Amino acid sequence: MCGIVGAIQRDAGVVQTLLEGLRLLEYRGYDSAGVAVLDAGAIAIRRKAGRLERLELALTDGALSAARAGIGHTRWATHGPPSDENAHPHTDAEGRVALVHNGIVENWAELRAELEASGVRFASDTDTEVLAHLVGREVARGSSLFDAVRASLARVRGYYAIAALSLEEQGARLVCARSGPPLAVAAGPDGVYLASDVLALIAHTRDVVFLEDGDVAELELGRAPRVTRIDGTPVERPARRVEWDPEAAGKGSFPHFMLKEIHEQPDVLARTAFDRLRLESGDVDFGVPGFSDAELRAIDRVQVVACGTALHAGWIARYLIEGLARVPVDVDYASEFRYREPVLSASTLALAISQSGETADTLAALRLARSLGARTTAICNVLGSTLVREAQATILTQAGPEIGVASTKAFVAQCVAAYLFAVRLGRARGVLSLQQGRELVSDLRLLRPQMESLLGERAVSEVRAIARQNQSQRGFLFLGRGINYPIALEGALKLKEISYVHAEGYPAGEMKHGPIALIDPEMSILVVASRGPLAEKVRSNLEQVRARGGHVIVIGSDEESIAKSDEHVRVPVCSEWLSPILNVIPLQLVAYHMADLKGLDIDKPRNLAKSVTVE
Ligand code: M6R
Repeated sequence: MCGIVGAIQRDAGVVQTLLEGLRLLEYRGYDSAGVAVLDAGAIAIRRKAGRLERLELALTDGALSAARAGIGHTRWATHGPPSDENAHPHTDAEGRVALVHNGIVENWAELRAELEASGVRFASDTDTEVLAHLVGREVARGSSLFDAVRASLARVRGYYAIAALSLEEQGARLVCARSGPPLAVAAGPDGVYLASDVLALIAHTRDVVFLEDGDVAELELGRAPRVTRIDGTPVERPARRVEWDPEAAGKGSFPHFMLKEIHEQPDVLARTAFDRLRLESGDVDFGVPGFSDAELRAIDRVQVVACGTALHAGWIARYLIEGLARVPVDVDYASEFRYREPVLSASTLALAISQSGETADTLAALRLARSLGARTTAICNVLGSTLVREAQATILTQAGPEIGVASTKAFVAQCVAAYLFAVRLGRARGVLSLQQGRELVSDLRLLRPQMESLLGERAVSEVRAIARQNQSQRGFLFLGRGINYPIALEGALKLKEISYVHAEGYPAGEMKHGPIALIDPEMSILVVASRGPLAEKVRSNLEQVRARGGHVIVIGSDEESIAKSDEHVRVPVCSEWLSPILNVIPLQLVAYHMADLKGLDIDKPRNLAKSVTVE
């Protein structure tokens, strides 16, 4: 949940390099930030509670501008409130080492008691400081930083990505390690670098080494990173080329990443799907192992595990897989799945969906499914992520880096990937005929201009008017049915996470069993109403709302529903299976504009972090 960076560069100015890296990782946590650099024979630390700007301000004096080696951190608090003292980096008592950490040291209380008993005085409430003292103690005994980190980590229970620098090494080496949260290292022409996310590396080089759990790496200018296991056994970790464009990590001309990412969705559809479509054979080719006819015919059940927005894509996957491939699907919150006693078999496919590929609950659910004998497949956006490395097969979504904490384009990419998978499964199992396959594949090609029309000026100004009209409402109910029920859930999640208003998603037919009591003129009801087999049912639910004085906003293509609404956004007609991908766009925009009108911090909503790597 925190972001860490580190660099040793040929030239001065490492502080700027670290700040640029932290800026790109701020999505991972943003309640405090800090850097430690080797400067004039000492470790200099600057750290500040609050957003990165406060740290930048504290560094404008240029006092550390000659430094060439350092580490940095942006925090999402776990142990101790956000404060200058709890901000990373942390040091040992003698200031020999500085250390940044993402994760949790589970036995920190025990280790802290032991260190205190030996006379160590702590300066913060964090679990991280324990690590700094442990490493410092080893260095004081004469160990190299590399050996000191390995020896200290051998005593730690928990999960971590850490980076450390030491006064003894005079900035010539940085050491980092991972067990759980992601960490990548890279050697470029001008320096060597480490970061929690490749986003912070691709400005320097596209060739990146993804560390595995249990790896420790030593970085030194002019050579490839040395990687060993914690016990010192050397391992080969070849660099992999990352194709992401460094430009994609910027906002371009958009005021917020979220808006930029919403507008990227038509391209995301094309990138995720078009090269994989086979019009002639009415099929999909993922171009990677794990999706052959034989492998897919061996599946008799799918178990989806995911969290948040990815879970909503999982619900959509359920409708698609059951509808198009006739394979039963269960969908579980990963955080619940891991603590029930699920019954899986070798013919179950566990499908884990995640943008980051680092969500702790999703990873735990995938591991549990595998330990119970299921085959595992991931739908994931991040090459080299833990999920991709651990799943037996992966459909990589091509959303590009998603920075806004509220997930938008990754969701669309996940829905597209689920559609592709359902078509492939249906074709492999002989459930879909050649003709049906061709139609499904062609339908996807028609979607891009329809998505673009929903992002055109007229549609966007309609949405903004809806946001303005409804911004003072007491609450929001999102209703949908069938494959658009998950879109109601997703619309409500988007609104609450960035606008801080209460919103609930509900299956429209379930409303009469309770939520209908909430309806009054201060409650806005957003109804997802597409043309299709359930349109008539949705209309009657809509009538029930109107009869109780609710303010009705229809998002969809069903004209009769639109005619009954107080406000609406008309969505182009497409196949029922693909309608969620269109319907979600106005809902994302309603949430965005509502938050914007309220002047809220859209890309970094309070209390949240982009990647939830803690349980
Ligand atoms: O990286 P993941 O897709 O695994 O993340 C899952 C959720 O944490 C994520 O979708 C979260 O709900 C978003 N903030 C929603 O916008």
